[in-house]
Amino acid sequence: MPERWFRQAVIYCLDVDTFQDSNGDGVGDLPGLIDRLDHLARLGITCVWLNPIHPSPDRDDGYDITDFYAVHPALGSLGDFVELIHQSNNRGIRVMIDLVVNHTSDQHPWFQSARSSPDSPYRDWYVWSLDEPSDLRQGMVFPGYQDTTWTFDDEAGAWYYHRFYDFQPDLNMANPRVRQEIEKIIGFWLQLGVAGFRLDAAPFVIELTEPGVAEPRRDFSWLEDFNKQLSWRRGDAVILAEANVEREELIKYFGDGHRLPMLFNFILNQRTFLALAREEVGPILQALAETPAIPDTCQFATFLRNHDEVDLGRLVGHEHDEVFAAFGPDPKMQLYGRGIRRRLAPMLGNDRRRIEMAYALQFSLPGTPVIRYGDEIGMGDDLSLPERNAMRTPMQWSNTRHAGFSTSSRKSDLRRPVISGGEFGFETVNVVDQQRDPTSLLSWFQRALLILRECPEFGAGKCSYIDTGRRSVLALIHDAPSGAMLAVVNLAHTGCSFDLGRQQCQDGSPIDVFADKNYPNVTDNLDGIEIGPFGYRWIRLRRTIGARAGSASGR
Ligand code: NOJ
Repeated sequence: MPERWFRQAVIYCLDVDTFQDSNGDGVGDLPGLIDRLDHLARLGITCVWLNPIHPSPDRDDGYDITDFYAVHPALGSLGDFVELIHQSNNRGIRVMIDLVVNHTSDQHPWFQSARSSPDSPYRDWYVWSLDEPSDLRQGMVFPGYQDTTWTFDDEAGAWYYHRFYDFQPDLNMANPRVRQEIEKIIGFWLQLGVAGFRLDAAPFVIELTEPGVAEPRRDFSWLEDFNKQLSWRRGDAVILAEANVEREELIKYFGDGHRLPMLFNFILNQRTFLALAREEVGPILQALAETPAIPDTCQFATFLRNHDEVDLGRLVGHEHDEVFAAFGPDPKMQLYGRGIRRRLAPMLGNDRRRIEMAYALQFSLPGTPVIRYGDEIGMGDDLSLPERNAMRTPMQWSNTRHAGFSTSSRKSDLRRPVISGGEFGFETVNVVDQQRDPTSLLSWFQRALLILRECPEFGAGKCSYIDTGRRSVLALIHDAPSGAMLAVVNLAHTGCSFDLGRQQCQDGSPIDVFADKNYPNVTDNLDGIEIGPFGYRWIRLRRTIGARAGSASGR
């Protein structure tokens, strides 16, 4: 049985092109990232997930690919990529990449060939309709920025299907040759040393699209094939899938553990924002109750922010409005009618206590945490940039020119403008300053992740909720062979105290291992537990020495 490292991992998501530029051309690159690996090692993450790194016209930040077997020349070469894997692994960090195979760029040679003639060997690699489909606007993902899901191509003399923008034609998964090619892509990158993939748009990948069919069938067996290919090539590799679907659907993606090992928990993400807005834990408890039980070999991934908007599409109308009112009241902060295009620090009013609490909450929830680059220093967003680019500005390394991101002499060369001035500008928010300051958010993250790694129960344990009698206080117990951890998080701006009563999994005296401040010791019977405004406490209830021996895991 391969080790399940992903259940105890901390994943860090980054865009190479906005992380660190090494050659002064204004675009981040792989050598730049290699140079910054020590920052990631010191932060305490165990895996990086790279947003797409392939050649691309970059009309959707790299999610429009023209060659699945290469690295975008602006980012470096395949040689640089292998060096990145080597240098990362040396520091105990695994590397995952995005697997974007629902579609290609319309500039991909496959599509160029497909559109050129009905006889092209690639014609059937895409989804075509000779007649105008009746459902031109069905299922658009980017309303306001996308007009249709079918577009007429003059050269092909036919309509092609695209779930996303019109420059991203969908691949025809029903074609076995397309699926074989995807397996080849998986095999290629595994051979180069990746630890796995973040599968983009999983529900659309397995859709059998046909013109006029509003609810296309999904073939889950393809996921089994991809997963088989993955584990045959590398036993401990994983696919982490993006599947923002209903609860009943979710479980089908895991199968009996033979489909996908890991999925983002979108339901929990949306309900966490509602809970933060209300300062009440109810929505989180509801999400945990709604989250289906999953096979032992599988895992959810938790996140607060990622490279996309906060998608609130699964909240009902008034809940949705509450989150908008709390965290994205200005229409320019909102996107696609369903989401918020902001980073977390500005959403939480740059309130340090609340930011810490939000991450302590994320790390306390069941699942593997995924964090977004820049959030460890509390970066802000730039709402003057279009759509989701608002949260994709360059990493702020120092208070020197271009935030230390690039040595380019021209601002206009930068991949995106650096945030400058104000409370989120690089002059105020940057790695160098925070590294020197033991009270900084960065120092807090380093401590939090270090302690999280000492508490494998959070990722691998069985999680249960205990009623605190306080609407704002979440109390979760994570119980594993190695021990038991109690996490207490207060979502409200006022403190309180509560009784829990001795727990069965307890052994010896409880010990505070991490908290927002020094609290009086908890008593053996867990009564009168104090928690401050936006406070959090991780309390060890049991530690079983020797239980982890033999499991090669460890975060
Ligand atoms: C989901 C990705 O997260 C998003 O950034 C992208 O635009 C779409 N898939 C299309 O690939």
